[in-house]
Amino acid sequence: AKPEPLKIMISGAPASGKGTQCEIITKKYGLVHVAAGDLLRAEIASGTENGKQAKEYMEKGQLVPNEIVVMMVKERLSKPDAQEKGWLLDGYPRSASQAIAFGEVEFKPDLFIVLEVPEEILVERVIGRRLDPVTGRIYHLKYSPPETEEIAVRLTHRFDDTEEKVKLRLRTHNQNVEAVLSMYEDVTLKVDGSASKEEVFAQIDSALTKLLEDRKATSGSL
Ligand code: AP5
Repeated sequence: AKPEPLKIMISGAPASGKGTQCEIITKKYGLVHVAAGDLLRAEIASGTENGKQAKEYMEKGQLVPNEIVVMMVKERLSKPDAQEKGWLLDGYPRSASQAIAFGEVEFKPDLFIVLEVPEEILVERVIGRRLDPVTGRIYHLKYSPPETEEIAVRLTHRFDDTEEKVKLRLRTHNQNVEAVLSMYEDVTLKVDGSASKEEVFAQIDSALTKLLEDRKATSGSL
């Protein structure tokens, strides 16, 4: 039998490197990357009522209410591409209630990756971060500079990427992190996220390889 597609969650403080790792993971493993923050920013960009409400919370670094977030994420994960290829969920759940809303079976992850990065590094990462609106790639002026001048001139800055806003986002994260971690203890992989992006990926890569091997062995023996 064909092994079940992977269901992976990645979590960590603001600017801990979730989006960066997701880009590398999806390239190798073909999973569908679903980022709660990106779904919300898409709502804002299309000017929907949910987007308008969400922006008020995001500007304050607070969690957007579950009424908006939970269905939005569930619907995206239920689409055929994510169901067929497996998914990599970034930035959800961020509270115990969001984890509970996902239930015990359908949306239970096979692996819950936690990127651990000291706070002083996070602020520097946020301030130097830039986004390429054309490719969606994440850059950092010091750690991952753009490859060409053409890319450099079109880079944008996120509205919540200031020192003041990231401190608010961090406070929200610190208030919720323990409760979320306690929900997935049995499948948690803690990773040192302060290393280079290649070294961080190497830690994740070996866990995912092992997970897939175990899965193949089990499905082969059915
Ligand atoms: P969201 O968009 O998820 O933001 P976040 O959690 O603050 O995380 P970031 O996207 O800022 O960072 P990241 O970890 O992806 O880091 P990145 O790879 O870019 O959420 C935004 C807001 O939406 C929230 O505040 C909330 O209001 C709302 N929201 C989202 N989800 C929600 C939910 N479930 N419920 C309710 N509300 C929700 O890296 C950062 C920088 O560092 C980059 O420049 C990168 O190049 C660099 N970098 C990355 N890795 C390395 C490395 N190893 N070494 C050196 N530099 C690195």
